Amino acid sequence: MTNKDIIAYIQSFYPTQIPVLLHCPEFLGNEQKYLAECINTKYVSYVGHFVVDMERKISDITGVKHAVALVNGTAALHILLLAVGIKAGDEIITQSLSFAATAAAIVHAGGTPVFVDVERETLGMSPESLKHFLAENVKLKNGECINIKTGKPIKAVIPMHTFGHPVRIHEIQTICDEYSLMLVEDAAESLGSFYNDKHTGTFGRAAILSFNGNKLVTTGGGGMVITDDEAIANRVRYISTTAKRPHRWEFYHDEVGYNFRMPSVNAAIGFAQLEYFDRILANKRETAHLYRQFFDSIHVPFITEPKNAKSNYWLNAILFEDRQQRDRFLEYSNDNGVQTRPAWTLLHTLPPYRQCQHTETPNAEYIAERLVNIPSSVRV
Ligand SMILES: Cc1ncc(COP(=O)(O)O)c(C=O)c1O
Repeated sequence: MTNKDIIAYIQSFYPTQIPVLLHCPEFLGNEQKYLAECINTKYVSYVGHFVVDMERKISDITGVKHAVALVNGTAALHILLLAVGIKAGDEIITQSLSFAATAAAIVHAGGTPVFVDVERETLGMSPESLKHFLAENVKLKNGECINIKTGKPIKAVIPMHTFGHPVRIHEIQTICDEYSLMLVEDAAESLGSFYNDKHTGTFGRAAILSFNGNKLVTTGGGGMVITDDEAIANRVRYISTTAKRPHRWEFYHDEVGYNFRMPSVNAAIGFAQLEYFDRILANKRETAHLYRQFFDSIHVPFITEPKNAKSNYWLNAILFEDRQQRDRFLEYSNDNGVQTRPAWTLLHTLPPYRQCQHTETPNAEYIAERLVNIPSSVRV
């Protein structure tokens, strides 16, 4: 089987898309109707009811008590870290294989990222790598986890559910408990993914979601903080709406706030999509199932959901034998009307993060050299 055959198979999945995109949004419900409502009623800013409607829908799907809609997932993670008390100089552990926003939001909040390895099975944070880093580098002092190398407190751990595949969150949670670390989940890619029947993003203190144009559900640009903790939700809501004390006419801001709430026009699109979210999820899982059958038949490793997990299969992925094979495929597919892409460049190797502490990352390197994401849009 050649690259040409693989491309032909992918094209047969998306016969009307030329070129076939990696993840193209489809609008199959009330999107236009709700957008027209925003315009006709003039409720286009975050004041409109669609923001609340969308927050409620996300609470229902994920099973959390509170959801706060924000302008994008990066801003959501930034604000969330401020809301849980991250201060300048605090260190936060995350995984080296992630989208740049995970690390950028840590820095925006004044923190310093520390990078650990991922697992080959889940593509997400490796509990072993995390445990090993902590065993070698920290001491507990007055209930605080202190990095012996830098003298700075490590406050939180942010695992990311890569391409929608849940990490081994219970193991990570146990390690966090042992070292007095807060667990915050980057669930930007995993709306609709469950671990042991519990939605991703509901295991730690709080989590974020993204509704960027390439996600399962999009608002154009958008994000959300989800949490069971009312105080965190209130704080996120407050600082993301300019930190203005509620009053009918006075403008009194007790602190430096942000203007990060999601506008109603965006929420209108997202709410419409969420009305048929079950269909989107079923469609994605069916695509992954068909891909898996195909790639199994030609002996190309296809990334499947981990044990005890139900993935949303946001972006499907295959593995090549080495970087050369991967690059040949990337070149061939992108030259021939099928958008594909490699995994992200490992964060600890990027210029802004080269000085950050990191563990050995053999698994992340293995994946980064071989993985290719293939088109995964909802098939209509
Ligand atoms: C892992 C991860 N974290 C954070 C974000 C940031 O979300 P946004 O693009 O909505 O800012 C994204 C992606 O888009 C992501 O994939």
